[in-house]
Amino acid sequence: MYKLLIRPLLFLLDAETAHHFSFTAIKTLSRLGFGPLFRKIWMIKDPRLEREVFGLKFSNPVGLAAGFDKDARLYNELSNFGFGFVEIGTLTPKPQEGNPKKRLFRLLDDQGIINRMGFNNKGVFEAVEQLKKEHRVLIGGNIGKNKVTSNENAIKDYLICFEALFDHVDYFVVNVSSPNTPGLRELQDKEPLTHLLKKLKRQNGKQAKKTSQKEKPILLKIAPDLSDDQLMDIISIVEDTKIDGVIATNTTISREGLKSHLIMTEEKGGLSGKPLTNRSTEVIRFLAEKSNKAFPIIGVGGIHSPEDALEKINAGADLIQLYTGFVYEGPALVKNINKTILERS
Ligand SMILES: Cc1cc2nc3c(=O)[nH]c(=O)nc-3n(C[C@H](O)[C@H](O)[C@H](O)COP(=O)(O)O)c2cc1C
Repeated sequence: MYKLLIRPLLFLLDAETAHHFSFTAIKTLSRLGFGPLFRKIWMIKDPRLEREVFGLKFSNPVGLAAGFDKDARLYNELSNFGFGFVEIGTLTPKPQEGNPKKRLFRLLDDQGIINRMGFNNKGVFEAVEQLKKEHRVLIGGNIGKNKVTSNENAIKDYLICFEALFDHVDYFVVNVSSPNTPGLRELQDKEPLTHLLKKLKRQNGKQAKKTSQKEKPILLKIAPDLSDDQLMDIISIVEDTKIDGVIATNTTISREGLKSHLIMTEEKGGLSGKPLTNRSTEVIRFLAEKSNKAFPIIGVGGIHSPEDALEKINAGADLIQLYTGFVYEGPALVKNINKTILERS
């Protein structure tokens, strides 16, 4: 139904308009009481799908990646599509518009998307208000810095977001890998990254003590464009700072092997979807092998089929996430991945 009817209609619209339209449609249908029906169609409940990772219990290993529900407006409704967790954000301390439109492009011949959204979001404090609702799913809080904040002052932005979200999310993701905030990816370098993560770890301890809660798992989200040496650095940084895991990967700046027209492929921004599948799996395998599986990995990048998901899991991913595959394949993808995991377990 999605690929035959809904996707062709959505793809008639400009990509960002289609995103907003889908958002409103999901919200409206949920308000009209379709939530239980959606859950009945798409959600699989089976103890064999449950995973315990970084101290959290996931009902299944398939999550919605960051960027879809940036402002935490629809996490419960989105969980009706069968996701085991939903990552909100990237959030920044102050609201920001993001880059000028047009900034989201479908590469149909490659089953990809190029985006240069630029962390458009209503700010972390608005998200906190949204997160005061009951949570029917585990929620990750993906945090970043405002465009106007220099890299020297970036730590302050991450700390503001961390502090604000502490009581409202189940795990944190430190995003230093978006290609759409100028200079952000420089924070992946060993020295600034170690410094940033150590500060967040310290804040984690302080806030846990203050609120008599456990510390929240902190994960680092990395780019697929890092060299082997840089990935080795990431492994030693994770071990040194004792953060809880890595999300591999964000979108790529590479444009290798694309079939779509140059007009599309030359758009600036991060590329996601099918063209990213193999590279992100390679990064997962590298991290898992070279670290001797010393920390959990969430695998994301170009999962468009159950086989893509299993490849990531076999490469060393403990959990997986989707974004572009969800746009191209629809909610049935979540169910099919979970079904296949059950069949092969
Ligand atoms: C339109 C769009 C917006 C995104 N926004 C964010 C974001 O705000 N923060 C983030 O960490 N990743 C963001 N991502 C990256 C995704 O979370 C994911 O890492 C990437 O797209 C690869 O997965 P996919 O091939 O399944 O889409 C975005 C991706 C897309 C397509």
